[in-house]
Amino acid sequence: MVLLLAENTKPPKSIDLPKGIAKLIETSRFSGRSDESITLLADEPRKVTLVGLGKADDITIRSLRAALYSTGKIARKQRDKTIALAVGASIPKVSDEDATRIAADHLSNVDYKYDAYLTPKKDEPSIAISATLLPIGDIDAKRAKALNAEAKAVATGIRTVRDLGNAPANEMTPTRLGQRAEEVAKAHGIKCTVYDKRAIEKMKMGGLLAVNKGSDEEPRFIVLEYNPRRAKKHVALVGKGITFDSGGISIKPAEKMEEMKFDMCGAAAVIGTLQAAAILGLEVRITGVIASTENLPSGSAYKPGDIVRAMSGKTIEIVNTDAEGRVILADALHYASQQKPDHILDYATLTGACVVALGSEAAGLFSNDDELARKLIECGEETGERLWRLPEWDEYKELIRSDWADMKNSGGRWAGAISAALFLKEFVDCPSWAHLDIAGTAYAEHETPREARGATGAGVRVTLRFLESL
Ligand code: BES
Ligand code: MN
Ligand code: ZN
Repeated sequence: MVLLLAENTKPPKSIDLPKGIAKLIETSRFSGRSDESITLLADEPRKVTLVGLGKADDITIRSLRAALYSTGKIARKQRDKTIALAVGASIPKVSDEDATRIAADHLSNVDYKYDAYLTPKKDEPSIAISATLLPIGDIDAKRAKALNAEAKAVATGIRTVRDLGNAPANEMTPTRLGQRAEEVAKAHGIKCTVYDKRAIEKMKMGGLLAVNKGSDEEPRFIVLEYNPRRAKKHVALVGKGITFDSGGISIKPAEKMEEMKFDMCGAAAVIGTLQAAAILGLEVRITGVIASTENLPSGSAYKPGDIVRAMSGKTIEIVNTDAEGRVILADALHYASQQKPDHILDYATLTGACVVALGSEAAGLFSNDDELARKLIECGEETGERLWRLPEWDEYKELIRSDWADMKNSGGRWAGAISAALFLKEFVDCPSWAHLDIAGTAYAEHETPREARGATGAGVRVTLRFLESL
């Protein structure tokens, strides 16, 4: 049993503690400071681990997540196979329902580790932890069970995103991404069409083809369709699927270039969200649209100065081959617009500039629809996945004005996240569109108190909440 407790508080009465343990807790001098933990031995359950949440008034979704993450680490170290977890505090400004959702969802992935390429050690058998969340606050047992089941679906989607994102680029090629999308779709009754290079040429997706020119791997254009019978609304989710971004001819510095295997996390978020939506049986029609290629330099690569014609017919002067995400998304957004959905949401690890502005605490949000932006921000607050809106005013369009083509693909360093969004906007034909720049949130560069290193599943939770609200 794991008990998360706020500073100087006692376990809630609703929790059935083994005899004598209450006394033991009192004498243990456990204070509940964040990051404090202690394991006590008892009869039944045999082990009670206390994990601190910090001051009751200061608990946030973040600190709850940190406590859950350390719980996972403790359980792993102590080789616990099954844990029952109780949260002995409420989070100010977060309903017990939402707290239950968040706790259950993070708890389901508490033992997540991307170990596909780690040779197993004989003396350290890997154990899967099965964790149950006890009801929080005055949530009754039945409701808690339903919330737990919902959270498992979300966690499944998140796990898919993390596995896809963490996989190295020599495995996760556009072809492989297409296969994985097909596998996920098949398992959940989603329709999936994967277009190969010839089909992409036929559709005249000049943006995707231009970026693909430097790569020996074929591009893929992936369309996922979840169409439940009673759906009233139709939402298109568009994802950037650069399986490796070297920068191309405008090559990136060597340092941290390995992180660019994560440049397909937008695409992964689309796949994971659709998977969770299907498991949850959401009554919304969802079309997933993914453009995928590597971005590499070679004798056949696209070059600065090249002019390419996107599927929409608009021409793009390439001034920086490292601004490739927007070039492939031009085609994906145009394709999505043609489906005439009610809303288009796109997910992309699009700009370093967005990371400079917001770090890893929030994703950048851009939208042509104030009501949609407001709703998404609200969904983000409720799920602990923050979005922060930046402007997409026409005044900034000057940055991507070109003398040679309809626009250029880079507006330079200043307002880099905004000029990227304005570029995307040129290919959107939908009155309700939002662009999420997840460059800073899609993966953790280092392990933090809250999460493991690597892909995080950014985009899934906030989007599911939005889809549920329609
Ligand atoms: N994939 C990168 C953006 C990125 C940077 C994601 C850092 C995650 C961490 C994108 O393709 C890119 O290279 N953008 C350029 C645009 C510039 C050339 C206008 C950038 O941000 O430097
Ligand atoms: Mn790039
Ligand atoms: Zn990129």
